[in-house]
Amino acid sequence: MRQKLAAGNWKMNGTGAELTELKALSQIHPAASVDILIFPPATLLSRASIAVQGTAISVGGQNCHAAKSGAHTGDISADMLVDAGATSVILGHSERRVDHGEHDEDVRAKARAAMDAGLKAIICVGESLEQREAANTLDIIGGQMSGSIPDQSTGENLIVAYEPIWAIGTGKVPTLEEIGEVHDFMRARLERRFGEGVGRSVRLLYGGSVKPDNAADIFSVSNVDGALVGGASLKASDFSGIIQALE
Ligand code: G3P
Repeated sequence: MRQKLAAGNWKMNGTGAELTELKALSQIHPAASVDILIFPPATLLSRASIAVQGTAISVGGQNCHAAKSGAHTGDISADMLVDAGATSVILGHSERRVDHGEHDEDVRAKARAAMDAGLKAIICVGESLEQREAANTLDIIGGQMSGSIPDQSTGENLIVAYEPIWAIGTGKVPTLEEIGEVHDFMRARLERRFGEGVGRSVRLLYGGSVKPDNAADIFSVSNVDGALVGGASLKASDFSGIIQALE
């Protein structure tokens, strides 16, 4: 049985004042039956990890560098994330692929570094609207998975998030059939590459305009093990609705 996971990506949002949302979330869900992960901005990671100590919530980073250390101004290594209290890291988010020119091989190198440091890597894949309209979705997802997921992946250290770019922050969500088609495809790819045992134990998240009112329907789709949530993870009351839909 795969443990369900509600992951909240705060992106470039939040200062110290927003740590109250973490506290509120931990009070609403003192002992959740699903995993709860919050990805605050790097500036809040240490404080957030202290704030969630002894609660059902864990925290993670939104990116890391592929190198262990060195002359990389402004970057953060996987070891630094661990040191700050992270248990996981989001890699290959489309906002990094598009805004920072990250390619599959960059994501793979970062994922290797993250796994070596003991972090779980949440590797994001997803098609653009043009790619979907050209009926290329599965080719794109398959290519991103082959290119971005490292060989040392296991059911424990890898999570894959399907985030159609056109659904992120837009209020648009694929149909349940479309989500199911991609998630079944991703499961089959993982089983083919890593064998049934590992392939079946990797958690698959859906991300893109998940809200409390559409979460239950999305979670009813086969091979959806949870969600990677942006906007609706910023407020404890909203994110709690999504967690409840998953429980
Ligand atoms: O990583 C989560 C994300 O990209 C989805 O964002 O705001 O559409 O839930 P949002």
